[in-house]
Amino acid sequence: MSKEIVVSGIRSTGHLHLGNYFGAIQNYVKMQDAYNCFFFVADYHALTTHPDPKELRANVFRVLAENIASGLDPEKVALYAQSDVPETNELYLLLNMLAYVGELEKVPTFKDKLRQHPDNVNAGLLTYPVLMAADILLHKGAKVPVGKDQEQHLEMARNFAHRFNTRYNEEFFPEPQVFRFSDETVKIMSLDGIGKMSKSENVNATIFLSDADDVIRKKMMKAKTDQGPTEPNSVMPDYIQNLFVLLNTVSTPEVNATFRDSFNNCSIRYGDMKKQLAEDMVTFITPIREKAFELQQDHDALRKIMKEGAEKARASASKTIEGARKLVGVNYY
Ligand code: TYM
Repeated sequence: MSKEIVVSGIRSTGHLHLGNYFGAIQNYVKMQDAYNCFFFVADYHALTTHPDPKELRANVFRVLAENIASGLDPEKVALYAQSDVPETNELYLLLNMLAYVGELEKVPTFKDKLRQHPDNVNAGLLTYPVLMAADILLHKGAKVPVGKDQEQHLEMARNFAHRFNTRYNEEFFPEPQVFRFSDETVKIMSLDGIGKMSKSENVNATIFLSDADDVIRKKMMKAKTDQGPTEPNSVMPDYIQNLFVLLNTVSTPEVNATFRDSFNNCSIRYGDMKKQLAEDMVTFITPIREKAFELQQDHDALRKIMKEGAEKARASASKTIEGARKLVGVNYY
């Protein structure tokens, strides 16, 4: 039986953080044996904010290195840069013909950007979900490992796939689903308790995979907490819940259970919990940071990986494009 197709990408806008790791990369690594995986650095998506070209290029190499350092094996998956697969652009154009301006204007991430950067509301920003759908449908992706913030975009990808199939009377594209190993899609909050951890906002409350040990400790100790619960078995505030999510992923089950019990019986000392979490986080991040740093010393090796990844991706993409052109009627030979 052929393996199911998995597609996902990470924008090259800055340093990767715990949200990217636990929301996406960790799942990529867990999926790489059982699925036919296409993972890419979304460098076109990064262009919506007009990054400095030198910085953009450095970011692409770093994101690639951080993915590999986290355990992704380029021999097992297609690991590539989005812009190295020009078939993406063609499908983007075809899907744009089926996307309505009205529905794109209603996308919450677009509305957020509109509020944050009213002076840069470019068409690329508006059609961002169409490009994302093109990335996925290009390989006829069925499963997409992403964090909670991307769920809405996936719904749009399903809509575009469905619309294409209906218009051209063929079940050509699958309707891609968010993939997760747990019941809930992961959302890692910023350590100050305000919004999600992100590459560009709240950088002092975001732990990056490239952060040095003492930086991790400092950020962790500043994480938002409160006086602690006064009633046994209280509902956890979301910023405390977030610390437990992190504890759950980097500490031992015993440590986790001890702090959970002390929360439930109102004896928890958040200072102790954060100290423990900081140390376990340091132990977790250090090998990734060091490996990523080492990989970035050899851009030629990373280029080779990217090139091979793009070849695998183009082989799959060209088949889809050929089929799509035929259905649309723009094939003449
Ligand atoms: P990006 O680069 O913002 O994030 C990459 C991945 O990390 C996840 N993520 C989080 N998960 C949990 N908690 C957080 N705080 C957190 N922050 C980020 C994201 O959900 C994502 O899975 N548009 C996409 C990139 C993209 C893409 C695609 C993804 C382009 N084309 C096709 C899937 C399929 C983005 O900007 O992700």
